[in-house]
Amino acid sequence: MTSGRRNDESRRDFLEQIGFGAGAISLFGAGFLSVAREASAQACAPPGSTATAKAWRRDNRPIRQRKAASTLSTAEVQKLRDAYKAMRDLSASDPADPRGFAHQANVHCWNCGGIGSTIQVHGSWQFFAWHRAYLYFHERILGKLIGDMEFRLPYWDWDVPAHRKLPPAYATPGDASNPLWNGTRFMGANDEVPEEDVGTDVMDAVLTAADFSDFGGTATSSGIPEGAPHGAVHVDVGGDMGAFGTAGKDPIFYSHHANVDKVWSDWNKGSSTHDNPEASAFLNLRFRFFDENKVWRSISAARVLDHESKLRYSYGPSIESDVLPRLLEWVEVQPPRPVQRTVAIDARLRETLAKAATSGAQVRIHFDGLQVPVDKSAVYSVYADVREAEAARGAQSPAFIGVVPVVLNDKDNRHPTPPERRAVFNVTKRLAQLLERQAPLEFALVERGPRGEKGRVLPLRARAVHFSVAQVE
Ligand code: C2O
Repeated sequence: MTSGRRNDESRRDFLEQIGFGAGAISLFGAGFLSVAREASAQACAPPGSTATAKAWRRDNRPIRQRKAASTLSTAEVQKLRDAYKAMRDLSASDPADPRGFAHQANVHCWNCGGIGSTIQVHGSWQFFAWHRAYLYFHERILGKLIGDMEFRLPYWDWDVPAHRKLPPAYATPGDASNPLWNGTRFMGANDEVPEEDVGTDVMDAVLTAADFSDFGGTATSSGIPEGAPHGAVHVDVGGDMGAFGTAGKDPIFYSHHANVDKVWSDWNKGSSTHDNPEASAFLNLRFRFFDENKVWRSISAARVLDHESKLRYSYGPSIESDVLPRLLEWVEVQPPRPVQRTVAIDARLRETLAKAATSGAQVRIHFDGLQVPVDKSAVYSVYADVREAEAARGAQSPAFIGVVPVVLNDKDNRHPTPPERRAVFNVTKRLAQLLERQAPLEFALVERGPRGEKGRVLPLRARAVHFSVAQVE
C-alpha cells in the first residue's frame, strides 16, 4: 500500500469517527470540521483514533459459553464484578485509556448519533451486527483486565418468565460497593419487565420473523425486535438505560445486549430460511473499536455473522426453539393501506382471517410508518378500540395488541429520534375476539407510565397497515 493511500484511509477513518463522510469535508472544508469537533466534545467525544484501523485478526481462543446472568455461580459473579471494577478503576486512574468504563460507555453514545456524530447504528440493519462487534471487544477488554481471556459476558434472559427481574448480581447490593450496580435505574431489585414487553407473543413474532428484513431490518429500516423487546427493556430499566446516549453507563446494558445478540443467534438457528443478508452493502459494513491491547481495530459485518467459530462464544439453549410453531411461508392477505382513523375489515378479509384462525395458522398485523410521540422515552400500548384504550387495562383487554417502545438518543433530545416506527404484532391468540367486533377497528396508543399507569391516549396514525398469515406445518 502506498503511503498516499494509507493517508487517505486514515483520513477517511478519522472523518467517519468525527461524523463526517468524505462528501461533507469537500463541502465545508477543514475549518468547519474543527469547530464541529470541539462542540461535540461536551456531549460525547469521538471515542476513536486518527490512526488507520488494523484489521481484526483471527481469534484463536477456545469457544466458551455465555451464560444466563441469573445462573452464574458465586465465583462467576465475583469474576464479573472484578472485571467491571477493574474497568471502572481504569477510567479513574487513566481517563485517556480507551479500555476504561467511561470510554466504553462513550463508544455507544457516539455511535447512536451523539451530538456532532453522524453515525447511527440504531434503526437499520447495522443494529445487530454493530452491537455484536461492540460486545465482542468489550468482552475481550474485561477478560484482559482480569487476566482471563476465557471470560465471557453473561446474558440477561428476560425472555424466560422466571428471569424478568434484574439479574441479582447487577441489583444487589444496591450501592456503589457493587461494580455492576447503577444508581439511576428506575427498576428496583424486585420489579419485573412486564409480560407484554418480552412475553411469548412478542418473542413468537420475533423468532418467526420471515426474513432478515423483518428480523434485523434493511439499510434504512429496523427489524421487529429492535422495538420490542429491545427498546422496551431500555425504557423499563430506565435512568441511564432509558436513552441510548447514556445506556452504556449501566453495566446491565452489556448483559441486556448479550441477550439481544442471543435472540439473533436463536433466530438464525430457528429455520433453514433464516439467513443473514448477502448484499455486499451489508457484509462490507465496517465497525471500529479499540481492542484489549489498545489497538484500533476494524471488523466487517461479514466477520461477526458466525459468532461461534469466529468470535469464540456460544449460547445456552433457547427456551422458545422447542415450543415455536413450525411455520411455512408468510402470506400477505391484504395489501397495505393507510390508516386514517379506522381500519375496516371487509367481509372477504374477515373470512380469510377467521379461516386462518380456525386452521391454527399464525396471524399478524403490520404497521408501517406508525407515528409515535418522540418527546420522551416511553412504551406505548396499542389497542384496536378507542374505548378499550381509554380504559387502559393492558394485556387483559380483548383489544390490546402489543407495545411500541420509543427510546430517545439523549435525555435532552438534542439528537431527535425519527417519529415513525415499524411494528408487527402477533394477534393469533386475540384474533377471535378482534373479529367478533363488527365495527371497524379504531386503533389507539396509550402511553404507559413508569408504574403501569395510564398516560396520554392518542389516535394511531400510520402510513400503512396489513395482515399476514402463516400456515403451521
Ligand atoms: Cu445501542 Cu440497546 O442500544
